[in-house]
Amino acid sequence: MMFGRRRGITALALAFVVSVSFAACGGDDDDDDAAQPTGNGDASTEFEFFSWWTGGGDSEGKEALLDLFSEQNEGVEIVDSAIAGGAGTNAQAELANRLLADDPPDSYQRHAGKELLADIDAGEVEDLNSLYDDEGWRDVFPDSLLELITVEDNLYSVPVNIHRSNVLWYNPAVLEEVGIAAPPATWSEFLTQAETLEAADKIALTIGPTWTQEHLLENVLLGELGAEAYTGLWDGTTDWESAEVTAALEMYTQVLEHTNIDSAAADWQPAIDPIIEGDAAYNVMGDWADTYFRIEKSLDWETGYNATTSPGTEGVFNFLSDSFTLPVGAEHRDLALKWLQLAGSQEGQDTFNPVKGSIPARTDGDESLYTGYLATPFADWTDEGTTIVGSLAHGVVADNAWKAEIDSALQEFVGSGDVAAFASAV
Ligand code: GAL
Repeated sequence: MMFGRRRGITALALAFVVSVSFAACGGDDDDDDAAQPTGNGDASTEFEFFSWWTGGGDSEGKEALLDLFSEQNEGVEIVDSAIAGGAGTNAQAELANRLLADDPPDSYQRHAGKELLADIDAGEVEDLNSLYDDEGWRDVFPDSLLELITVEDNLYSVPVNIHRSNVLWYNPAVLEEVGIAAPPATWSEFLTQAETLEAADKIALTIGPTWTQEHLLENVLLGELGAEAYTGLWDGTTDWESAEVTAALEMYTQVLEHTNIDSAAADWQPAIDPIIEGDAAYNVMGDWADTYFRIEKSLDWETGYNATTSPGTEGVFNFLSDSFTLPVGAEHRDLALKWLQLAGSQEGQDTFNPVKGSIPARTDGDESLYTGYLATPFADWTDEGTTIVGSLAHGVVADNAWKAEIDSALQEFVGSGDVAAFASAV
């Protein structure tokens, strides 16, 4: 075991007898429309839920939570408008079209952080202040997370989880086969191990589409620069063209040389398959991968698959959070509010996260449910000794305009290896 405590895997489906009250969100809010069910008296019978959670590893948690929503709202038809493409690559484009056409789903997925800002600025989402007040949520979500979804004192989404980005997944049998005792603690060590792996005809590190290359980039930068200088990339205190960032970007190009980028996988799941098949050793991916290994592929933690913090990031938690919104003009607003109530509840979060491969965004999750791989992020997230930083590829640190520029500069960079051009472009 490379990190965390060891426990047996508990049942994933949780039966609760708690009855949740879905009383209308009251409000002494001046704004009559703020987070209150539509007042026509007729309860909606359909709810459209929009996300990019499709396929093994991404959909199991969603299904568990939507099942619970169904149970609690008999007779309601759930329209699950999921658009395939990891990290929302395709869903976000489709969502932009729908928002432009004033045809929002009843609730949609956004990462907490800078990714949400454009929607708030454009008035696409309602504030959820009275929902937070009524549910007592200001006390159960960490302040730092609330800040990410607050603009001018208004709260705009409901975070359902915390995911960790800086995770190095591996197949222990492959390491053993080639005589590697432990996964690399630094990216330099990775380069040395890559020679050994390649001599044995193994892919050292697998990779998928551009967003997974960005996911790798953020974690190479984090590992090489350290948490403080990494955070400085996003708040302007670290110079992208400095010698240390240049060296980190050069390391990224060297790491890429030890991947299967010439035949990059179509998404994150097929990027993980060669590891499971014993043809590759490592993949850097967020902890939704736990669900893919454990549930989709029925592998056992530590023996069938294992993980550690990505090289150079021990003690650091590179986080992201999936959150859900109440779009202005949601057709089934009453059900959207019920959905948000569930998504933010302890019951909802403890139903969703053990299956999603994430930990609750709330601070009062039931620790006994987070076993195997998940015991580590559960402990690390609240450990005062952990340094927390935010993810680029998953919407925390750069707003959509800047991220779009980084995305296209990265595509060039991956092809050209031109560090100076990339640093100057971003
Ligand atoms: C992230 C999202 C995760 C997971 C992943 C892969 O952006 O936050 O929940 O879905 O993409 O699709």
